[in-house]
Amino acid sequence: MVDEYDHLSDLWYQYTFNSVDSVLLEEFEPPKGLTHRPVALDVGCGTGIQSLRLASMGYDVIGVDVADALVAVAKKKLAKAGYYDAEFSIADAQHLPLEDSVADCVNCCGPTLSFIPDWRSALREIARCLRPGGKALFEVEGKWNLDLFWEILNALAFNFLGYNEPLPTALSHLRPPWNVGHSIEYEFPLESGDSVQMPLRLFAASEFDCELTGTGLVPVKNWGLHVITNLMPSTILHNPNPSRLLSIIFKRLSSMERRINHVWPFTALGCSLLVVARKQNAEPDSQEESTWV
Ligand SMILES: C[S@@+](CC[C@H](N)C(=O)[O-])C[C@H]1O[C@@H](n2cnc3c(N)ncnc32)[C@H](O)[C@@H]1O
Repeated sequence: MVDEYDHLSDLWYQYTFNSVDSVLLEEFEPPKGLTHRPVALDVGCGTGIQSLRLASMGYDVIGVDVADALVAVAKKKLAKAGYYDAEFSIADAQHLPLEDSVADCVNCCGPTLSFIPDWRSALREIARCLRPGGKALFEVEGKWNLDLFWEILNALAFNFLGYNEPLPTALSHLRPPWNVGHSIEYEFPLESGDSVQMPLRLFAASEFDCELTGTGLVPVKNWGLHVITNLMPSTILHNPNPSRLLSIIFKRLSSMERRINHVWPFTALGCSLLVVARKQNAEPDSQEESTWV
């Protein structure tokens, strides 16, 4: 998606990016009284959308991503904005090439963890690189949302919403255990009209919070994204050229959503789950892997 990632203009992505951006601005002001320049680690930095925001807030940015083509865009973007100190490396989040406690904050959005096969290792690596007391922002794909309903309806009604999923697949998302996530083959629509299929892990909100806690990261704030906006099917909201009426309806729904999406159970019912977590000051439990069953 390197050619179009920065031009994703549909209502769905714009709302998601804006929500992440607002949380960075509101919750991630650089800590005061540091003896060094604040450092932000952007894991799965992609084309550097959040790297740029963090740099503009005063952080020295370290961006890490496996995709060299995306990292090249990020590097260019930050240099163009004058942030020549930003460092980027092509590396796997499962083995971050960084020292312990190097970062004052971490961003891992987009939803990077949902793309990583061994996401538990990536979480442990993020926790290792964050300094005690530092905050991290995660965005992961959520398991429970209204798209489940739209997918079933779509399968019963001859794919009229374009989810391209047969009924058994749509129903399989409802299988227990309900508080544990699972992986799906997700079809990413491209603006060209083509699509790319990728495995994507969906998380249950309570499961993700528990996994964070197991690595010594304590969830402090949660939001659900596309809880209310998903009253409209995501396939419609991914239209790159939304009509005026659709844009007006979406604006109303998203402003309703912003009023309630930090409150349970809406925090757990988003297509994306947004979590701010703080690294405990003490060493985390020796518990190697948190299991949530
Ligand atoms: C959808 S993009 C998000 C980019 C950016 N954070 C944003 O929100 O625009 C997900 C990113 O995760 C990266 N990624 C996937 N697996 C990774 C891994 N194992 N280690 C590091 N980055 C990874 C992808 O290359 C991609 O850039």
